[in-house]
Amino acid sequence: MKEVDHLTNLRNDIKVITEEILNLVSQHKKIVEEVGRIKKIQGLPIEDIIVEENLKRFVQHKSSELGIDPILGVRLLNILLSNSIQVQKNAVSPRNFYSPADMLQRAKKISESGKKVIHLETGEPDFPPPSSVIKKIKESIDLGHFNYTDSTGIESLKNAVAEHLNEKLRTDLKNQQVLITHGARFGLYLAIASNIQPGDEVLLFEPAYPAYRRLIELFGGRVISIQTTLEEKWVPDFDMIENRFKDIPRFMIINYPANPTGKVLSKRDYNRMLEFVVSNKIKVLSDEVYIDYNFSENNSILQHQNCDSIFVSSFSKSYSMTGFRIGYMVSDKEAIGRMGEMEGIALTCIPEYVQQAAIKALESHTTLKDNVDRIRKRVEYATELTQKLHLKYYKPEGGLYIFPSTNKEKFRCDEYAISLLNNYYVSVTPGLAFGNYPRHIRISLCQPQKMLEEAFRRMETSFK
Ligand SMILES: Cc1ncc(COP(=O)(O)O)c(C=O)c1O
Repeated sequence: MKEVDHLTNLRNDIKVITEEILNLVSQHKKIVEEVGRIKKIQGLPIEDIIVEENLKRFVQHKSSELGIDPILGVRLLNILLSNSIQVQKNAVSPRNFYSPADMLQRAKKISESGKKVIHLETGEPDFPPPSSVIKKIKESIDLGHFNYTDSTGIESLKNAVAEHLNEKLRTDLKNQQVLITHGARFGLYLAIASNIQPGDEVLLFEPAYPAYRRLIELFGGRVISIQTTLEEKWVPDFDMIENRFKDIPRFMIINYPANPTGKVLSKRDYNRMLEFVVSNKIKVLSDEVYIDYNFSENNSILQHQNCDSIFVSSFSKSYSMTGFRIGYMVSDKEAIGRMGEMEGIALTCIPEYVQQAAIKALESHTTLKDNVDRIRKRVEYATELTQKLHLKYYKPEGGLYIFPSTNKEKFRCDEYAISLLNNYYVSVTPGLAFGNYPRHIRISLCQPQKMLEEAFRRMETSFK
């Protein structure tokens, strides 16, 4: 047979096999729908980590047997699993998902109608940015500092960030390890975009900041959710993790002090987690936007050089600069180079005058101390108020929130949050925004004590 005919035949074979794969995917979808129907009738959860893990072991084994890279096998499985979950979610009655931003928009609409809403839904500090920051931004504009900059950030700011962290954490970071970003959120985007391929698994401790799940799914990754509970003081079950997740996944996200729980892992737990990730060569994305609001033991991923990590933080919370949209990342030089290039492609750079003003923020030690003291007092105060409401809570060791729950019969956080907003003009975020936590609400402490007191008074009435 001529080579040309042979090639044509092979291409036809590939077409036939592709059609067979599609037929199998279609059969798979029908089975998944049926499984979803049964789960719905029996009230079973959509995701079953044990069933999925067993299937994964089987796929790894079978892939090796067939001479396929097990990582590819698992990626394909995860694409199917993600699709199955979506199909089943559509079959189960849709649950209301109100993120902090959704709640804020609803609350704003109510405010527009003339009602005075107390905003406890978002993590936007109510105090002003340092005055030196405002002054510098005006000066920079007057001096005409509004040009394109290097996409990784201006040298003086990268130096200032490295020095600031070295001083705070006793590290030895170089400015080539720093990338200036459009807030911590874009840092998270870059970290996930540059590390996650469709079908890749990402370990995530929930409850968690909603953007993590959304970003992982945006890039086709699969969330392996480790549920933590208030009863267990929000400490992940490391025995289970060590047993179950040895070989895959390769990526994990952590966030301490945590949003929404205010959890800070003890040194012992943190070290145990690090041992697990280092010995299994898992890359860690550590979101430390609340690094300064830590009233407990100070643990930063940057203090552990043996861990392959990406650190993300921001000016938003520490210096009350949410709308300035400026944050920073730290990783090894190569990773920073790659992510800097991506940032350049997407955004060109962060505005020059904002970068210059951010240097002033890092010099505002007194403002930072005042901000942290203020939040620390509010945590104490809100804890007392939560206790008086007979809600279950874990006293935050950091962060800007408290995340209590209730045993009240038939309580659903989404219905409660909407009713609290519509009837009592207090806006909180339902626990469901952070994972499967229908009995929790997140209360942001970004309001003065007087407002917190009034909000809790209204909540007390709402619970009667
Ligand atoms: C855990 C966490 N990470 C990141 C962000 C985003 O911060 P930024 O304003 O710097 O984008 C937030 C904001 O609420 C957050 O809570």
